[in-house]
Amino acid sequence: MLLGTFPENMKNSILWGKPPKHFVIQPDEVHLWRAYFNRLKKKYNLFKEYLSDPEKTEAARFGSEEIRLRYILSRGFVRRVLGFYLGANPASLEFSGRSSGKPYLQGVHKNSLHFNLSHSGNIILLGISRQREIGVDVELQRDIEQPEKIIGRLFLDDEKKRYVSLVEKKRMKFFFDLWTQKEAQVKCSGRGLFNSKGTASAKKNIGDNPSDGALTAEASDQQISTRKIKLSRNYSCAIAVAGTIANLCFFEWD
Ligand SMILES: CC(C)(COP(=O)(O)OP(=O)(O)OC[C@H]1O[C@@H](n2cnc3c(N)ncnc32)[C@H](O)[C@@H]1OP(=O)(O)O)[C@@H](O)C(=O)NCCC(=O)NCCS
Repeated sequence: MLLGTFPENMKNSILWGKPPKHFVIQPDEVHLWRAYFNRLKKKYNLFKEYLSDPEKTEAARFGSEEIRLRYILSRGFVRRVLGFYLGANPASLEFSGRSSGKPYLQGVHKNSLHFNLSHSGNIILLGISRQREIGVDVELQRDIEQPEKIIGRLFLDDEKKRYVSLVEKKRMKFFFDLWTQKEAQVKCSGRGLFNSKGTASAKKNIGDNPSDGALTAEASDQQISTRKIKLSRNYSCAIAVAGTIANLCFFEWD
């Protein structure tokens, strides 16, 4: 068994492999990278140098030191990892701008890889695929104000019923598990923010243990498969990929 893979019969036992010697991704593979902000801090100066001038300017504008740190480390991390796959200097990578929505590689590496980033709490998650659209979402499970408002707007009737049927202490996990799956779908399709119920929700009920749920996002014509990923205590996480879920490989950044 390959280290870092997610075998069908061991869905709850993810082995996060060490970074491979050679960063190669096959067409049928999806690679998921996990990193921790507190461990990445030691790379701050290096990662900062990878950023483009507009990114450095944007980072400098943040009023909060914490937000600046997270921005630099997560952007630097994306550049470092993609740089390995592409055999390129991380600083040389070009991306579409923030205002254009979902970021894509541009320039000489345009269309070489698909990727999507998410960060919450101490975790950064980066999903990579060769040819297929991908969306990832991670959320630290936490108290949020008036979850009913979001539930009313974005959850399907069955999901709402399931939520209210749960005892209080199980609701937060259910909420974020469902939220991350919907968000991963939305991020995979690259559009569809809070504009309609159908856009962010799946046609098919995700349910309580949706690891195999093949879902069709309203916002896109292509089928999007979504899978809940067991990441870490107190975190919810999901990945969505256009088409069927491919071979998932899990790697952890030191
Ligand atoms: C833009 C958005 C997708 C980011 O999600 P988030 O949970 O705030 O943040 P995450 O950490 O998961 O992802 C951030 C990264 O996603 C990527 N991203 C930005 N816009 C994106 C888009 N339209 N599609 C996909 N990925 C996007 C960027 O790499 C970004 O990194 P950055 O912060 O360094 O710029 C989010 O703000 C949003 O609007 N989501 C849709 C809301 C919604 O309707 N959700 C339905 C779920 S029930």
